Amino acid sequence: MAQNKNNKAIWNTRIKKDTSSIFKKVGSSIDVDKRLFKEDIQGSIAHVEMLFKQKIISFKIKNKIIWGLNRIRNEIIKKKFNFNSNLEDIHMNIENRLFEIIGDDAGYIHTARSRNDQVITDFKLWLRNSTSEIIKQLNELINIFVKNAEKNVKTIMPGFTHLKNAQPISFAHYLLAYVEMFKRDKKRFKNNLENLSENPLGVAALAGTSFNIDRKYTSKKLKFKNPTNNSIDTVSDRDFVLDFLYSVSVCSTHISRLAEEFIIWNSDAFKLVNLHDKVVTGSSIMPQKKNPDPLEYLRGKTGISFGNLFSMLTILKGLPLSYFKDMQEDKELVFNSFDQIKNSILILKEILNNFTPNKKRMYELANIGYTTSTDVADYIVKFYGFPFRKSYQITSKIVNYVERKKIKLNDLTLKELKKIEPTLNEDILKVFDLENSIKSKKSYGGTSFENVKKMIKKYKKESE
Ligand code: ARG
Repeated sequence: MAQNKNNKAIWNTRIKKDTSSIFKKVGSSIDVDKRLFKEDIQGSIAHVEMLFKQKIISFKIKNKIIWGLNRIRNEIIKKKFNFNSNLEDIHMNIENRLFEIIGDDAGYIHTARSRNDQVITDFKLWLRNSTSEIIKQLNELINIFVKNAEKNVKTIMPGFTHLKNAQPISFAHYLLAYVEMFKRDKKRFKNNLENLSENPLGVAALAGTSFNIDRKYTSKKLKFKNPTNNSIDTVSDRDFVLDFLYSVSVCSTHISRLAEEFIIWNSDAFKLVNLHDKVVTGSSIMPQKKNPDPLEYLRGKTGISFGNLFSMLTILKGLPLSYFKDMQEDKELVFNSFDQIKNSILILKEILNNFTPNKKRMYELANIGYTTSTDVADYIVKFYGFPFRKSYQITSKIVNYVERKKIKLNDLTLKELKKIEPTLNEDILKVFDLENSIKSKKSYGGTSFENVKKMIKKYKKESE
């Protein structure tokens, strides 16, 4: 429980007994929220500067407090600070140390504020920095995708639907699909910055304060756009926490989809990609094994990030206004999700820098499963004037025939073709070709090599 330098709780004049030791132990959040120390000190400095400007505290006291706070920051950075779980959280730990360093003048620091507004201020500042850090990481990740795409414009692979071979695509086009996903993630995180731009400091416990404070001044100091509008909402609001946890979950989902695909493609059955030794681990019993553990880590951690989002939603559901201790759980969830997404992006970058597509196998597989059937049907519509449903039927007959004969579409002879549909001529044979199929997908956003090259250019320009 929060105690002052005599080892007595701050509230000991009112609450005569020591809090039960089990609650002291589990109710303390210092092990988690000490991560907020820089932001806590930053917020406190802005607060006392404002108190001085408003003539609520003297110049001398303001300077003394700021000097003490700077010293505390150094102590923590140099690991010379003794975090005390009896002092509950980071706010009380710092305030208590300030008392030790500058004496009773430290008592002025908590004028016109409460831990309720203090903690959200710290947390929003922390989230603002961390969100920017994730955006930076996503930019780097996107660049690696584009680099890989550049090397694989002409790499032909089967595109899948239902995990069945569907149509041939450029491997680069597949990689660029992830660029779009991570660009949306970036946007999502950027949008969150908007909700993080309102300053909670100064709403105090829940009702505001009778001191003549200047919340616009602290907003400016802390680089918030505006002060929040409603004191009750401010101390109750954890929407910005949900936004962050949701954004991490979506980004993680994207990562997990690629992880799953690469796990499948790396399997002995598929062999479409080869993971280098840096991104596999061995087996304790089977000497031959090279397992894609890092990819499985990515898939597994995605579940944890969903858990964090659902935990927070559940904590907030039905919670009356305004502050409750329940909300203290928010930091552990956010820190965990942040660490997880940061590590996941780093690992994904490693994987993308340490794999080789098996181009030969990709091509072979793309040629299995009659993947150019749609091209044939389209061609018959365009050049023989049949309605699509009719040409779909003709093509189905062709597919049935080659399947029965156990040959590929491009093994068909004109004679065989004419037997199925006499109006068809030699020109149709070129349509079975995988490259031609890809080249023909020129519609905007399609997989044609030309389109893919243009998109790579566009992404490269965006990243400049
Ligand atoms: N450690 C607390 C939290 O994170 C700070 C706010 C405490 N306020 C209170 N009224 N007990 O939620």
